[in-house]
Amino acid sequence: MKTVIRRETPEDYKEIYTLVKTAFASAEHSDGDEQELVERLRASSAYLPELALVAEEDGEIVGYLLVTEITVGETPAVAVGPLAVLPCAQGRGVGGALIRAGHEIAREMGYGFSVLLGHAGYYPRFGYRPASSFGIRTKLDVPDENYMACPLREGASRLEGVVRYPKEWGIE
Ligand SMILES: CC(C)(COP(=O)(O)OP(=O)(O)OC[C@H]1O[C@@H](n2cnc3c(N)ncnc32)[C@H](O)[C@@H]1OP(=O)(O)O)[C@@H](O)C(=O)NCCC(=O)NCCS
Repeated sequence: MKTVIRRETPEDYKEIYTLVKTAFASAEHSDGDEQELVERLRASSAYLPELALVAEEDGEIVGYLLVTEITVGETPAVAVGPLAVLPCAQGRGVGGALIRAGHEIAREMGYGFSVLLGHAGYYPRFGYRPASSFGIRTKLDVPDENYMACPLREGASRLEGVVRYPKEWGIE
């Protein structure tokens, strides 16, 4: 099946809300707030319209990735997530296609690093490693292996600093 990755539009918002809620409903780590988080971030200064991506198959949205701006120390970087794929479309590369597209766009926009909090069994295949190994620190009380970063540009090997999220994330 052909998967098209494109930017979200306001006409997609309702469908995305339901998709994110549905995808996270069966995720044991979910706090049930991810669809509201998307709405808060969309309305915030961290929102990057170029990096709010839907994956579409046969005219139906099956996946969503929101990538927003954060800072590491004083340096702008991006945070990946929420990432959600409809249960019926999982396991065939939709999540990976969204992440790769997001990385490519963020790189073109000049960002050097992406960070995320997520599954240590999933994200390393896209180049993520514990953020601490790049000098990137978080104030979040989370296992080191789940707080990850990925360099987006050649030569981006270290970025010393603490990650600061916009208040809309509700985590700082
Ligand atoms: C995580 C998620 C986005 C992955 O999307 P996807 O389109 O199924 O992922 P892909 O097809 O690109 O990759 C599938 C691979 O990832 C693995 N995988 C999927 N979810 C995983 C998880 N939570 N932990 C570890 N591995 C996982 C699959 O086993 C599969 O492995 P394989 O390629 O070795 O067979 C999707 O399962 C989802 O929406 N889950 C609920 C919401 C969620 O957890 N979001 C991420 C928050 S960190």
